[in-house]
Amino acid sequence: MSLDPVKKLVILAKSNIMQSNNMDALEAIRIKFLGKKGYLNQHIKNLNDTSLDIKPKLGAAINQAKEDIYTLLIERKNILQSKNIKNTLITDTLDVTLPGRLSDIGTHHPITSTIKRMKIFFNTLGFSVIHGPEIEDDYFNFDALNISKYHPSRDEHDTFWFDEKRLLRTHTSGVQIRAMINKTPPIRIISFGRVYRKDYDQHHTPMFHQMEGLIVDSNVNFSYLKKILYDFLYNFFETDIILRFRPSYFPFTEPSAEIDVMKKQETGNWLELLGCGMVHPKILHHVDIDTEKFSGFAFGIGIERLTMLQYNIDDIRVFFKNDLQFLDQFK
Ligand code: DAH
Repeated sequence: MSLDPVKKLVILAKSNIMQSNNMDALEAIRIKFLGKKGYLNQHIKNLNDTSLDIKPKLGAAINQAKEDIYTLLIERKNILQSKNIKNTLITDTLDVTLPGRLSDIGTHHPITSTIKRMKIFFNTLGFSVIHGPEIEDDYFNFDALNISKYHPSRDEHDTFWFDEKRLLRTHTSGVQIRAMINKTPPIRIISFGRVYRKDYDQHHTPMFHQMEGLIVDSNVNFSYLKKILYDFLYNFFETDIILRFRPSYFPFTEPSAEIDVMKKQETGNWLELLGCGMVHPKILHHVDIDTEKFSGFAFGIGIERLTMLQYNIDDIRVFFKNDLQFLDQFK
């Protein structure tokens, strides 16, 4: 074997390299010439069959060829890379005349908005906001509210029980008891939060929201309760509504009432809105509040119910579907 084929290989490699236009092609050339099974390694394998006088020279020539081809590859690679950069600079220009992409800003969930409005109203009247746990003791959710184990109204609360004592609260009324234990009169609190009942249809979801309100003071009476709630509701529904007070029953208030609402355009269609009443003396005794000096009134409002009436929504489940078409309407 002579030196010629090696020289020829370098010339061939050079012309291949010069013609290559991209990195992939260049890599293919590298493999073809310098790869394990590439041309130059083939020559190295053949060295054994070469006569001794030419062997060292041929070996050196092959090594030199390898180096030369390698250098050519690197040079070409650099050229192609800078070409690429130039091309991207030319093609990737920013067209400032294109319309911008609007970022879609969300909005408060309607339930959150209702809670905010309620907070503002009651804060103005001097109520402060307190919180209660969603995982409750049966004592706070039922017993302390005069709903003993065998009281029929326990059945109305389709309760999620964890065990014999712990449950997901079925209403926010337990917060009243905590407030009366932790504070001394005058007490004026509201509390918002999630409550849970085993129920699911157009008017019920297993989780919904309530607001609880409580005043304990020396001169509260039923007419004061009525005044505050009427003010709140007339203020909340900016449209024309008619309200009525209807006697009702709750184990923890005496007397108890419910407020119904009717939109003026929908005559005859009374809808139940909230429950309220004077805090039962038994409950006040239980938390060591002197009933000679103090009395209290309490109220509980379903927040979904209020929001549905405000916006004429007839299926409560839409609040929890995360349907953007629905939610976008409240922007
Ligand atoms: N906790 C009652 C319910 O979930 C609502 C209620 C009624 C709350 C009367 C009160 C109240 O504070 O006085 O149905």
